[in-house]
Amino acid sequence: MRISIASDHAGYDLRKKVEIHLEELGHEVISGGADSGEKPFSYVEAGKKVAEDVLGGKADRGIAICGTGIGISIVVNKYKGIRCGLSSNEYMARMSRQHNDANVLAFGARVVGSAVALAMVDAFLEETFAGERHAVRVNDIRALEDENFK
Ligand code: RB5
Repeated sequence: MRISIASDHAGYDLRKKVEIHLEELGHEVISGGADSGEKPFSYVEAGKKVAEDVLGGKADRGIAICGTGIGISIVVNKYKGIRCGLSSNEYMARMSRQHNDANVLAFGARVVGSAVALAMVDAFLEETFAGERHAVRVNDIRALEDENFK
């Protein structure tokens, strides 16, 4: 899979670990955001990169990381067509795919350790959308986007 991953400064160290993991699994990694953990980098810019890569077809899925995961998940969910699940454990990441057909996973580098982060990434990439009643709800989300997004 082609994975766009970006973070602010707070997510930099964890992002690098996730990138190595993704490469080891054979995924194509499109990396964006902060160049280090030292210099402040806005989670807004990082989130924009992930959302635009996914919506523009450069990436199949996105991973968005900031300190809490909250700011960057808000940013990516401002884009029509992005369904980002902010997760703090493997179950949430798995359900974001199974029930919500999430195309972006967000988490907080100050919230989860690297083992949990990698388990969430694995669940997010391997899990499939269950469809059926969940497809009805995702279509209802699309209708809301049509109503509320320019
Ligand atoms: C950066 O200090 C922090 O505000 C950011 O990483 C994130 O947690 C915001 O939601």
